[in-house]
Amino acid sequence: MMVLVTGGLGYIGSHTVVELIGAGYTPVIVDNLSNSSVKVLDRIETITGVRPKFYERDLVDIGDVDEIFEKESIDAVIHFASLKAVGESVEKPLEYYCNNLVGTVNLLQVMGKYSVSDFVFSSSAAVYGKPEKNPILEDFPLSATNPYGSTKVMIEDMLKDMCAANSGLNVAILRYFNVVGAHKSGLIGDSPNGVPNNIMPYIAKVATGELECLKVFGSDYDTHDGTGVRDYIHVVDLADGHLKALEKLKDNPGLIVENLGTGTGYSVLELVKAFEKASGVEVRYEVIGRRPGDIGTCYANCDSAKRDLGWEARYGIDDMCEDSWRWECNASSVG
Ligand code: WQD
Repeated sequence: MMVLVTGGLGYIGSHTVVELIGAGYTPVIVDNLSNSSVKVLDRIETITGVRPKFYERDLVDIGDVDEIFEKESIDAVIHFASLKAVGESVEKPLEYYCNNLVGTVNLLQVMGKYSVSDFVFSSSAAVYGKPEKNPILEDFPLSATNPYGSTKVMIEDMLKDMCAANSGLNVAILRYFNVVGAHKSGLIGDSPNGVPNNIMPYIAKVATGELECLKVFGSDYDTHDGTGVRDYIHVVDLADGHLKALEKLKDNPGLIVENLGTGTGYSVLELVKAFEKASGVEVRYEVIGRRPGDIGTCYANCDSAKRDLGWEARYGIDDMCEDSWRWECNASSVG
């Protein structure tokens, strides 16, 4: 079964490609390399022994998308390609709406032209905005607190409308919580451009000495130690969730919406402690003020994914920290 993976050289995309190959699928990667490297293709080959077909194309150009479907007999699509930096989306909203929305519309139009009906969409816990309570359920109200989150809400609405109008479409909307960790090989992982916005790569770079000190954004939240609580999920568990969703779509379920998290929240200080245990290295930090737009607590209820997909996270916080540490130590050598 041939699966088009958009953004397939990115952090989550590359891990999903590795799991797809391991499960006997034939992934075809399209990526514009705006936030990834073609070196990841070499590492996917090293890990799996398979070098997937790769198209360096931009989904914003519908001709690029059509060319791939013309040349390849695509059976399903997993759509990761997206700009995803919250802060950057506030500064450059039109770039986010154009890239994320136009790219997705082009993809869906071409899928319709070639009668490809199975679509797995990379959504985010960001669509819940500031949830009233935790754990978060899929039927909670959606809202966005930034343009990045707005693009995810809008695309979800687009997909829901299409499924209501087109009985042939099968869509899995997967809402990720905080994705961390790396493949056990240490060959692929999260490699954000510049100074990381997200906490795990930042902590890892403090542990290696590349960054001096973690700034903890606030210790006055309504949590057990005052620091922000999040549902961290291992990227390999997340990749596995995509394979389970792909399998589910073969049953023609129409539209399914699933939280992909662990159901357990960890505070910033608990994450620091877990990382120090995994790395054996002290992580220096200082508490400063809250980051604008942050919420105090966010973690998932994952019962639906367990019921619908037969999926649940297998890796715990120690695995996430050990694998992140191994990747950070290797990243400089793998280049
Ligand atoms: C986690 C916790 C921070 C950095 C973001 C996006 C979300 C999703 C995941 C795409 C919070 C604290 C962080 C630092 C800190 N991305 N923190 N110091 O904000 O929960 O979610 O990434 O889908 O859309 O919003 O992740 O890793 O930035 O923050 O104290 O240097 O760590 O306050 O409590 P976040 P994060």
